[in-house]
Amino acid sequence: MNIIYVKNNEEMALKAASIIAAQVTLKNDCVLGLATGGTPVGTYANLIKWCKEGHISFKNVRSVNLDEYCNLPVTHPESYRCFMNTNLFDHVDIDKANTNVPDGLAADSEKAAKDYDALIDSLGVDLQLLGIGYNGHIGFNEPDSAFTMGTHVVELTQSTLEANARFFDNDVSKVPTHAITMGMRNIMSAKRILLIGGAEKAEIIEKAFFGPVTPEVPASILQLHKDVTVVCVKA
Ligand code: GLP
Repeated sequence: MNIIYVKNNEEMALKAASIIAAQVTLKNDCVLGLATGGTPVGTYANLIKWCKEGHISFKNVRSVNLDEYCNLPVTHPESYRCFMNTNLFDHVDIDKANTNVPDGLAADSEKAAKDYDALIDSLGVDLQLLGIGYNGHIGFNEPDSAFTMGTHVVELTQSTLEANARFFDNDVSKVPTHAITMGMRNIMSAKRILLIGGAEKAEIIEKAFFGPVTPEVPASILQLHKDVTVVCVKA
């Protein structure tokens, strides 16, 4: 495990983008596992800048996103598909046909989750980017999720609904209650993992990476992965 402490969010975004840029440079047809939330926005902004300047290209890159809300139209600005288009895909040379986000609108979401699970297995993720929730969730794997789970439908906990209400006019009742998320098995199967967190996540990062490995803190399982880098702001 490699923990890189940085001074602030700008430095975190630079370091994380450098690691992703290195991956794309080393293997131009790599598969990136991507994340949403407030934390990776600066990282994506750097990647957009470097792509526009011609330093990196996403032309042959394929991507799989971690998760998606159920029953939120893809045109809704807080849908993770819309987030990815706005914060990255619309501004780089990636072929959108090569970008994948779980289908939160599928009539049969269990089947959509199963199909996504098979897709991840067939692609094989080279580098998985992760944020972390205040309760240690990664993707939408809430505390007590089984470490063996593949992609599945999940009911969000009250703490996650409250944390994400800031994206929905601070109104918890507007936050979708369910999501499709990669499971811990999918995340652990990535060849390399990069987890990022700002100062506000210092406490949970400490618990996840220096405390016991337990389903109560989903991110703690990453201690067992052989190639994990954490870039976090020192509190
Ligand atoms: C959300 C997402 C996660 C994200 C986490 C932290 O619920 N499902 O993938 O990493 O919460 O989000 P933020 O970076 O906005 O704090």
